[in-house]
Amino acid sequence: MWHPVFKNEELSPGKILCSEIEGKKVLVMRSGNELYSCGAMCPHQGVSMAEGWVFDDEITCPEHSWVFSLKDGSLTWPGSGPRIPIYPVRMNGEMVEIQIGND
Ligand code: FES
Repeated sequence: MWHPVFKNEELSPGKILCSEIEGKKVLVMRSGNELYSCGAMCPHQGVSMAEGWVFDDEITCPEHSWVFSLKDGSLTWPGSGPRIPIYPVRMNGEMVEIQIGND
């Protein structure tokens, strides 16, 4: 199911916004011309990454600087480890929508 989360104009490049959908905290961000969405909680120690940094197609956790790919959720630094969930994201008119759930 697609959920409208933010207006396009709210998502300036590098800004990370947080929303809660179906009980999940989800981050939405723009880097360059791309939109990304991922789970908000870092799997290292359960800290929110809403205050982290996005650069190219990666997000860095603000707590201990673990870095995750926004394409597949894999840990890219400091080595192999747990993934974060990645959600499909699209524009629908002026709204940014993310897909959570199968319907
Ligand atoms: S809590 Fe995110 S890197 Fe440690």
